[in-house]
Amino acid sequence: MKQQLETIFKNANEDLAKAASISDIEEIRGKYLSRKGEFNEIKKNLKNLSDEDKRIVGSLANEITQKLEASLKLKYDEFYHKELNEKLQKERIDITLPGKFTPEGKVHPLTSTTNEIVSIFQSLGFSVAPDRNSPEVETEYFNFDMLNVPKDHPARDVQDTFYTTIAPNVVLRSQTSGAQIHVMEEQKPPIRIVAPGRVYRNENINARKNNFFHQIEGLYVDKDITFGDLKGVLNEFIRIYFGASRPTRFRNSFFPFTEPSAEVDVQCIMCEGKGCRTCSGTGWLEILGCGMVDPNVLRGVGIDPEIYTGFAFGMGVERLAMLKYAIDDIRLFFNNDERFLNQF
Ligand code: DAH
Repeated sequence: MKQQLETIFKNANEDLAKAASISDIEEIRGKYLSRKGEFNEIKKNLKNLSDEDKRIVGSLANEITQKLEASLKLKYDEFYHKELNEKLQKERIDITLPGKFTPEGKVHPLTSTTNEIVSIFQSLGFSVAPDRNSPEVETEYFNFDMLNVPKDHPARDVQDTFYTTIAPNVVLRSQTSGAQIHVMEEQKPPIRIVAPGRVYRNENINARKNNFFHQIEGLYVDKDITFGDLKGVLNEFIRIYFGASRPTRFRNSFFPFTEPSAEVDVQCIMCEGKGCRTCSGTGWLEILGCGMVDPNVLRGVGIDPEIYTGFAFGMGVERLAMLKYAIDDIRLFFNNDERFLNQF
């Protein structure tokens, strides 16, 4: 039996010498030292020996298995570190490499101005009209007819409005006012909405004019709405947007879809009212048109003007942004020059 033990120990050591990985070690451990391993098989037969032999062979068996355990552990540790190092080497990340530069995106100043204006009106109880009520491609019906614009009005001229080739009466909208008609055809009063969007005009481009720009339309229709409500809401908007110290004025005007009509001017930010190139020497800049919704417009969409009245307004987003940030050329908004855009 002693002989047997020595042989197994020798075999185990030979196997161990050939081992090349942790899994080889585990295999050897299983083969020799597990419950069904070769040493255990021997130990099971110890009971057949004399007490004396039991002691001698038993202690030899223990001694040998302890030795084998020790050398297995040694090898195991060696492979463990080797394999770990190989793995680390393979998965190595060089944290000193410079990162990839991702330029930071910014909200376009026209978008942030629109958002700001819309949220002011939301705080005053207005909600945003659904997109389908404010399309950029319109029929003359929404852009002009239903807004009481006469057939021979100069705004309808191709010199002012872009006509499409889709159909003779389909235009790129020249104002967001068509949204008023869409909303009133869908909704009954009380109505209190704003509709932001892009509009197109056949203009020669210069520092003050572009052939597309942005407007925010507003409409409030209910019983007993007066010009006082219009002034109250718009003055409150101006106070929040520009701050209390900016002088403003309401001026008489005319629009086919409002009666009476007005325009609102704010003092020129460039010259503080002294008169300059930006304000053509007047000291004032117009920011919006407004008025009481013309009874004809209400009747057209089936709202009884004897019961309901309303006010409407339309403001230029570029104008409002230019006046707040002292920008003197509208083209800056559309050139996508990062030196300009990054200032906001
Ligand atoms: N649509 C007009 C324009 O583009 C602005 C305007 C004026 C809108 C009076 C209105 C309004 O709603 O009541 O010049």
